[in-house]
Amino acid sequence: MGQKVKIFDTTLRDGEQVPGCQLNKDEKLNIAAALDKLGVDIIEAGFPISSPADFDSVKSIAQQTENAIVCGLTRAIEKDIDVAAEAIKHARRPRIHTGIGTSDLHVFSKLRITKEEVIERGVAAVKYAKKYVEDVEFYAEDAGRTDNEYLARVIEAVIKAGATVVNIPDTTGYCLPDQYGAKIKYLKENVSGIDKVDISAHCHNDLGLATANAIAAIQNGATQVECTINGIGERAGNTSLEEVVMVINQHEELRFETGIKTQMLTAMSHMVSEKMNMIVQPNKAIVGSNAFAHSSGIHQDGMLKNRQNYEIIDPDLVGAAGSSIVLTARSGRAALNYRIEKIGVKLTKNQLNEVYQEFLVVADQISLVDDKDLKNLVAEYVVTNIN
Ligand code: KIV
Ligand code: ZN
Repeated sequence: MGQKVKIFDTTLRDGEQVPGCQLNKDEKLNIAAALDKLGVDIIEAGFPISSPADFDSVKSIAQQTENAIVCGLTRAIEKDIDVAAEAIKHARRPRIHTGIGTSDLHVFSKLRITKEEVIERGVAAVKYAKKYVEDVEFYAEDAGRTDNEYLARVIEAVIKAGATVVNIPDTTGYCLPDQYGAKIKYLKENVSGIDKVDISAHCHNDLGLATANAIAAIQNGATQVECTINGIGERAGNTSLEEVVMVINQHEELRFETGIKTQMLTAMSHMVSEKMNMIVQPNKAIVGSNAFAHSSGIHQDGMLKNRQNYEIIDPDLVGAAGSSIVLTARSGRAALNYRIEKIGVKLTKNQLNEVYQEFLVVADQISLVDDKDLKNLVAEYVVTNIN
């Protein structure tokens, strides 16, 4: 048994910020219900003050959710907290997520206040949220670019004020994995009271490092990862839930575990992609349509001898349709023969050699050869074989 890593899903908040991908209430309720079944520990349902519709969706998600904690986002502003508290008040397990920017850039050029005032506002927000709920998460926006010593002071102050979870966002996706891991380690070693709370990793993907950074965080003491289905989110997106879950699943030596039912990952990915009208790139890890497709001759030959030669994940484990041997001009005889046998035709070695030459000509013209094309290619041999 590994140490539990809590999965905080923000598909409906950070994920839903993607331009053109807004969901209606029914769609949000369906996704939230599926996330609850998937086994996420926390659903960040929205940012209730942002619009009456978002408030309404968060409220209904709070009412319907059976297992997960339901969380609403706020700024460090009393009115935001009042509205979020109202939206989540019927949740079985409510959480308010409040916070403020802590990097010099955010403090001086966005908030335009002093660093001491940032601490005061953060502490006041946590104390105010505690009037409504026991479970209060604090985010230090742009923690990735915040000086560690100052960040430690902020985090220590909000823990003293009652925060139960401290979120260390790499808001701009700037950190390298070793830098982000070292930041978490620094907080673990220098903040009094930090052992009593969850440390949360919230990583953006601007440099393609969101998953690597989240893993570095848990290796250094983070106990919660914030992520989205298909890695959707602002700009280049957030840490992808399916990636972080499967890294933990595949690397037993890390000794972590999540409560995610991995067999549901592919269906969950399809659901979010369809409802948000946002395609998943074919080569996306775990859930892309090519994640278990093999097309080059060398790989196909190895796959047909032993799947493990080229696949580390059993497609069943993530609910994918299965591995596929796709036929392109880079495919070899072993793959061609395998696919021909799958359509019920057996060829001799010589026949296969002949068909292979014709196949290459066709494949060069039409990039992907399907079963219909194959049937045309072997038509004459079917007759010959029957005779
Ligand atoms: O990226 C970020 O800093 C955020 C916070 C609001 C948690 O999404
Ligand atoms: Zn974010």
